[in-house]
Amino acid sequence: MQIGLIVYSYSGNTLSVAETLAEELKKDKHQVTIEKIEVIDDNPEIDKPIEFQNIPKISDYELIIFASPVRTFSLAPPMKKYLTELPKEEKRAYCFVTQHLKSGWLGGRQAIGQIKNISQAKGIKIEKTGIINWSNKKREEQIKNIIDNFSQ
Ligand SMILES: Cc1cc2nc3c(=O)[nH]c(=O)nc-3n(C[C@H](O)[C@H](O)[C@H](O)COP(=O)(O)O)c2cc1C
Repeated sequence: MQIGLIVYSYSGNTLSVAETLAEELKKDKHQVTIEKIEVIDDNPEIDKPIEFQNIPKISDYELIIFASPVRTFSLAPPMKKYLTELPKEEKRAYCFVTQHLKSGWLGGRQAIGQIKNISQAKGIKIEKTGIINWSNKKREEQIKNIIDNFSQ
């Protein structure tokens, strides 16, 4: 299957999980491409309009996996803007988010809900989701569970 892993990552956590996931999916003979959402002069500490340097297209993929960090108890604004600006197109998709805090209640679930809602409005059906709590001692287990789930 042609899989597009569409990643926004500022400090590298989300990208590192996406890279591990891509390697595992490739072992199952899928063609996996990581495409990065890139923001000009990206700085999460400064509140300014987001301008994209790279806007990945999803039309060539049979399955999309969206991956993003959580920011301020919500979906990171660059991923929110990217999804909002996607053209309508029926697609199957999975998604995962990474967050620093230990529990999914502290932004992760909210971010997943936002991805689901925006995607649904675009015709994209989110079939599987995952949250990785970076400071949780079960982080590696969480990553493994997401990879196992997304590989099925
Ligand atoms: C401005 C800002 C706000 C954040 N807000 C939250 C938050 O509300 N909850 C949380 O658990 N982590 C929060 N984080 C931490 C990131 O979600 C976490 O470090 C994530 O794994 C970063 O992913 P990345 O390395 O792919 O950018 C925040 C980070 C930044 C920079």
